[in-house]
Amino acid sequence: MRIALLLLLTLLNCSKEETGSPSKPDTALATPFASNASNITDNSFTANWVLVPKAESYLIDVSTSNSFSTFVTGYSGLEQSATTVEVTGLSSGITYFYRVRAKQGTEITNNSNVITVTTTGVQAEDPTYLKDKANTLANPFFVGVAVKANQLTEGSSYDVVLKNEFSSITAEYEMKMNPISTGSGSYSWEAVDKIVNYGNNNGINVHGHALVWHNAVPDWLSNFSGTDAEFALEIKKYITDVVTRYAGKIKSWDVVNEAVDDNGNMRNTIFLQKMGSNYIKDCYQWARDAANAAGDTNLLLFYNDYATSTNIPKQNKVFTIVDDLMTSNLIDGVGFQMHNTYLSPTKEQIETDINRAVVLGLKIHVSELDIQVNQNNDITYLTEERSLAQKEKYKEIVNIYNALPEANKYALTVWGFKDNESWIPYSTDLNHPGNDWPLLYNNKFELKKAHTGFLEGLD
Ligand code: XIL
Repeated sequence: MRIALLLLLTLLNCSKEETGSPSKPDTALATPFASNASNITDNSFTANWVLVPKAESYLIDVSTSNSFSTFVTGYSGLEQSATTVEVTGLSSGITYFYRVRAKQGTEITNNSNVITVTTTGVQAEDPTYLKDKANTLANPFFVGVAVKANQLTEGSSYDVVLKNEFSSITAEYEMKMNPISTGSGSYSWEAVDKIVNYGNNNGINVHGHALVWHNAVPDWLSNFSGTDAEFALEIKKYITDVVTRYAGKIKSWDVVNEAVDDNGNMRNTIFLQKMGSNYIKDCYQWARDAANAAGDTNLLLFYNDYATSTNIPKQNKVFTIVDDLMTSNLIDGVGFQMHNTYLSPTKEQIETDINRAVVLGLKIHVSELDIQVNQNNDITYLTEERSLAQKEKYKEIVNIYNALPEANKYALTVWGFKDNESWIPYSTDLNHPGNDWPLLYNNKFELKKAHTGFLEGLD
């Protein structure tokens, strides 16, 4: 009997709730759940979400940024009573994000989950060739790219892009000491010959990189057991033989690369240890002497280093070395590597740094340009926002370079062709934490916005 009574009471209670009790407040609106987009075209898509009971309408946001820092015009809290809306007037090949809130009277819920959608088609970039545009300038300069010998096969995609777009090449690694020097007085020239001949036969400038670099010391020299004087003679012989072989064929050499440490002191390399603090000057003297002896009195000698725009102690030390070489008339230019990010260095930092070489009357080589967009590993694909930020940074550096006086211009070299072959992603040298997209072409060799940014920098 008691059980029957309890059951009756429970049933009465339930039916009361179902019919809605005036004495009980309405439950809060549930936060909506956005579902995938449909009907995706080149310039529109349909945004969808799941119905929220009791909602009178929904507020939709659409953005090109997943942080919704800006909104697509007309889609900031757009009010809609259905559970779907057609988003129109978009661009092709762009990634958009949408989210939704539910509304009833004055009550508005939190944002739903965010849905990502990419419109179809590819965004056409300006197909103008870089060197063509650079060559129309009042004061033109070489537009360079880092290459590998195996890319230079006639008819390969690299060969086609290179001949169309670039007027200068640097070997990405095959002209460093460890691949060339196989022992005292013995050399492996094959890859270097291929790169140099390719440049010479196609009217493309060849920049030599790099005669002396602490990261490219061959094992036989790292383990050298002779005296320090004998070690110095080996370096002299190496520099002399390489410069002599390519005299008149290579227009410029990075003689010493990265001699300054990040703490602003001389880097404690095997060269400093065995040859003493005068080693830099010695190397430049040997390079100059070899070129002159081979009849090339126009060889340009560069000092090349990285991060000097942001690291002022390092910048100061580099210019101490440069000043010293200037005093002995042993330097013609400075290479600023510019392995930059979409955030750094600033325009002012770069200008201040480069200007220190300009006032000395030296040639400027932006020698290894690439621009990271994922240095903090916070994206998993190249977002629209990052792609545009990278484009602006490419435009900025090209613009800075193009504004240099004629006498200081030499070359602006990009460090590779396609993103997926760049040295940046997952680089242990750089402690890079993930994937990245730092160059002008994507994995399919299509032009990126960065390429358009480069072109716009030449305006
Ligand atoms: C890098 C190349 O990109 C890599 O392929 C190679 O394994 C190591 O060197 N500073 C320089 C360049 O001067 O020579 C370096 O190039 C990148 C940093």
